[in-house]
Amino acid sequence: MSARGPGNKKAMTSPLVIAIDGTSASGKSTTARRVARHFGYTYVDTGAMYRTLAWHCVMKHMDLHDEKAVAAVCRKWKTSLVNVDHHVRMLVDGYFPESEIRTSEATAAVAIVAANTKVREWMKTLQQSCIQFGNLVMEGRDIGTAIFPDTDFKFYLDAPLAERSKRRWADGVQEDLAKRDHSDSQRASNPLMIPLGAMVINNSGLTIEQTCQLIVDEVNRRLAARNY
Ligand code: DC
Repeated sequence: MSARGPGNKKAMTSPLVIAIDGTSASGKSTTARRVARHFGYTYVDTGAMYRTLAWHCVMKHMDLHDEKAVAAVCRKWKTSLVNVDHHVRMLVDGYFPESEIRTSEATAAVAIVAANTKVREWMKTLQQSCIQFGNLVMEGRDIGTAIFPDTDFKFYLDAPLAERSKRRWADGVQEDLAKRDHSDSQRASNPLMIPLGAMVINNSGLTIEQTCQLIVDEVNRRLAARNY
């Protein structure tokens, strides 16, 4: 990858956010991690934050459809953000539920809590606070539309459903992606959509390296064009 880091005027005064949104299994996580490493920025996985809430509610045997009760959890639970090796972790009572949030139970629960408007408002404040960690590569579904809509660096990853389903199978995860696409894009609050000004990358047939290279080149192009 060609290099151009954050050592420039504007980035030094206000942190820069690279927003990577897209459909499930579009390669967002791997791509965002690599792009973050390339620029030396901090990586934030916002899906993990929603998964953490879903896991917490499942642990407490809550009715996930009880929107008020789930929103009340956000007001009460004790969470913190820590930056470990340029990766932001969300802790609950000081604990990082790294593997627990990836179980099929948490995966089935997460779309329900992510559709809760009050939860999304709470997550927005939390996610915006990640700017405390400096320049970011943040991945999710509404980063370029709702969390950091003013960033100049927006990307939207996608691939055909059949190919994304194959990727999930290859990872050993059985998931109804059509259902997830539907819940992500049809929810009333901040649904998944292509952010204004985003570079859209259909990475069908592209390697992860090629996808990362497209993003790195475009970030560098936009940095140069805006004289950052
Ligand atoms: O990216 P992921 O599969 O870990 O996301 C888990 C769920 O959270 C998925 O249903 C989409 C939702 N999500 C969201 O609504 N907004 C985000 N910014 C990130 C994830």
